[in-house]
Amino acid sequence: MFSCSSLLNIVNMKTTWLPSSLLLITLMSCVSLQESRKPNFVLIMVDDLGIGDLGCYGNTTLRTPNIDQLAEEGVKLTHHIAAASLCTPSRAAFLTGRYPIRSGVAGYQRPGVFLFNAASGGLPSQEVTFATVVKQQGYETALIGKWHLGLNCKSRGDHCHHPSIHGFNYFFGIPVTNLRDCQPGHGTVFQIHKYLPYRTLVIVLVTAASLHYLGLIVIRRGLILGLLSLLAVLTGLIAGFIMMMPYLNCVLMRNHRVVEQPFTSENLTQRMTHEAVDFMERNSAGPFLLFFSFIQVHTAMFASAAFRGTSRHGLYGDAVHEVDWSVGQIMQTLDRLKLTETTLVYLTSDQGAHVEEISATGEVNRGWNGIYKAGKSTNWEGGIRVPGILRWPGNIPRGREVHEPTSNMDLFPTVVQLSGVPVPEDRAIDGHDLMDLIQGRVERSTHEFLFHYCNIHLNAVRWHPQNSSSVWKAFYFTPNFYPENETACFHTHTCFCSADYVTYHDPPLLFDLTRDPSETTPLTPDTEPAFHSVLAVMDEAVETHRRSVKPVESQMSTWNLVWKPWLQPCCSTLTQLCQCQQDGEGVVGDKTEDHVSG
Ligand SMILES: *[C@@H]1O[C@H](CO)[C@@H](O)[C@H](O)[C@H]1NC(C)=O
Ligand SMILES: *[C@@H]1O[C@H](CO)[C@@H](O)[C@H](O)[C@H]1NC(C)=O
Repeated sequence: MFSCSSLLNIVNMKTTWLPSSLLLITLMSCVSLQESRKPNFVLIMVDDLGIGDLGCYGNTTLRTPNIDQLAEEGVKLTHHIAAASLCTPSRAAFLTGRYPIRSGVAGYQRPGVFLFNAASGGLPSQEVTFATVVKQQGYETALIGKWHLGLNCKSRGDHCHHPSIHGFNYFFGIPVTNLRDCQPGHGTVFQIHKYLPYRTLVIVLVTAASLHYLGLIVIRRGLILGLLSLLAVLTGLIAGFIMMMPYLNCVLMRNHRVVEQPFTSENLTQRMTHEAVDFMERNSAGPFLLFFSFIQVHTAMFASAAFRGTSRHGLYGDAVHEVDWSVGQIMQTLDRLKLTETTLVYLTSDQGAHVEEISATGEVNRGWNGIYKAGKSTNWEGGIRVPGILRWPGNIPRGREVHEPTSNMDLFPTVVQLSGVPVPEDRAIDGHDLMDLIQGRVERSTHEFLFHYCNIHLNAVRWHPQNSSSVWKAFYFTPNFYPENETACFHTHTCFCSADYVTYHDPPLLFDLTRDPSETTPLTPDTEPAFHSVLAVMDEAVETHRRSVKPVESQMSTWNLVWKPWLQPCCSTLTQLCQCQQDGEGVVGDKTEDHVSG
């Protein structure tokens, strides 16, 4: 076989022994081969960013010029749906192109996300991520930022759920998420009375002491003392655990090594940005895949000094400004390295803004979901309608808007196929390749149905019939809001999907999102003649979908969610309280080898 360069040599030598038409055909395929050279991927995910927080999605008071520019130079998806309304399942779906229920990364009860580094659940190793696939295709891969898909299974350091198991050659970031405890002053208010029944105990003790005093019963002093000391020990243990939380959970890792514990969020976005720039410089010969997963704008809210006070929307707005700055740095680096034309950039949020978010000191940190109802932890549009921007100059049209339904699961098949291989055929893939739609070769999305889960419960269905512009959405249950005039669950801080917290609907609540994008008025057989026939089609689709979901081990069973001391990452000895600062200083305990690559 001829290589392209040898063929070009032949052309230069003006040889005549090859029929010129054949030469031309071969040459043309050479050119198109070079044109479609495997692109680099920069996939950017912001945490808890609302669709209404960005200038290019209509915000007029926050400044996001870099992200807006990305949208101007590429395609903006206006009906882009996260596969789940919580971090852990949404990210599992994004990486695998599959509904979280298929990988077992869907909660049973609450919480629906991992809360501890030392939990044993995570993205199972049998799952195939786009990073795994492109790595096999010769890509250099990195995850910088938040993971939130587990760490260990059986022992501290087995790293069975670590990003490196899922195709990321390089990792700099946090294995769980940014928690309130990770920021001084934002932490859990000391509410130890929540954990032990102090009030009951006081009543029992006082009653017993009075009865004893009145001579009605006789209690031995030893028993009382024993009880009191047991209580003191338990109080001490729980208080100690709560105070240890930042050291235990707020862990920053480089590859397999804990480098900072607890991490300092001040300047963390800058450090992550530098890591990203370094990674792109090291791999400018390509191809590479960078998953840049912001720790902002999730609570504990933070913004570095340069951004504090720059917005009209408090620390939240400042954090959005910092995110935009960081995106700008990544764009500039691509320009400087002359990679803009050969890099597909994608930007999204893992779900809608968390509208209940108020810090322990009462500061409101809520993002904005625009015209969409409610937010994170619900399947109302505000919880799952997310920004979706794709840029690849020369390959994706400039300034196009796509209003057809798309999903964050679509990135899996899109990335995999652009890397040069078909999607795996041994498993159900729920995402669809986006290229035809965003390049304008087709008008219609191939997503006819999308299924919206709240944990393991099927919560709602979306149907975009092939022959109509309608987008129907039916809810089988909806969260009970509190206070009732709000579209949020302020009593529980997030909405839950278990029976006590929802209202079931039979017939389901039906909306047509093209007419009522804010989901204000459910349709009835009187207001919508097709009411029953629409629901019948959706019921059938649900049945077919349910049959396609194979039972798997739950990664979010109580056992897989609880804190297990033997899985706790700790960068020093326990007597040093698992503390170490600034990239490795004072690292004593962890001897795990640091696999630096790339
Ligand atoms: C963050 O960066 C600024 C400016 O470079 C520096 O003055 C400050 O000390 C840094 N903060 C931390 C906690 O490292
Ligand atoms: C812009 O975003 C902020 C912060 O989320 C929000 O409070 C504000 O209402 C938004 N403004 C507009 C015009 O959408």
